[in-house]
Amino acid sequence: MIKNYFYSDAFYNKIIKKKKDSRIIAEYKKILKYKKLIKFVYQNTPKGTGDAVFKTRKYIKDKYFLMLLPDDLIIKKNCSKDMIKVHNKNKASVMASMKVNSKTVSRWGIYSLNKKISKNDYLINGVVEKPDVKKAPSNKAVIGRYILPKTIFNKLAKQKPGNGGEIHITDAIQTLIKEGEKFIAHNFSGKYLDCGTMQGFINSNKEIGKL
Ligand code: G1P
Repeated sequence: MIKNYFYSDAFYNKIIKKKKDSRIIAEYKKILKYKKLIKFVYQNTPKGTGDAVFKTRKYIKDKYFLMLLPDDLIIKKNCSKDMIKVHNKNKASVMASMKVNSKTVSRWGIYSLNKKISKNDYLINGVVEKPDVKKAPSNKAVIGRYILPKTIFNKLAKQKPGNGGEIHITDAIQTLIKEGEKFIAHNFSGKYLDCGTMQGFINSNKEIGKL
């Protein structure tokens, strides 16, 4: 479906011919631009985020890379850009962070915080995937924006399935932290739209419809 979105030229041309709407033309131009930049990798069995990311390894050339989970929507502010600034300033890995209701911690990766290093940034001691409410180290959750070191692929190659039987990126991150890699949790300032529950998904669609 995703590939179709980028490659259905005949479909878009037909609509443009019929509607002659400048917004549709502008969107189609964006698609043409991005499809040249995108490489696809396939995860044929859903073994977890860590396994999916591992499939991209041959395309990652730089020391660090940005990873985005597409069902975590952040609007009104470019969270990735702000995180790149934090990364450049601190020469560290960065993950987006948000305070969540303590009762919902078992839905998220949860941070164990070390110390505040600036207004919106915390050095972290660790991160645990979907902990029990009783065992959670905080109520600060990982949201799907990560600046990760390429060395994470060495960890993912050996990563065993964790919570729920999936290979989690969170577990590989925890291994890196234990080995001394510096990780920062960045409290982002955009608006988060939750797509992880049915009600959240419906609300998110409404919000996006207003843009
Ligand atoms: C993933 C991550 C989790 C993170 C969440 C954010 O979980 O594994 O650490 O908090 O995204 O949405 P998933 O939603 O894929 O279960």
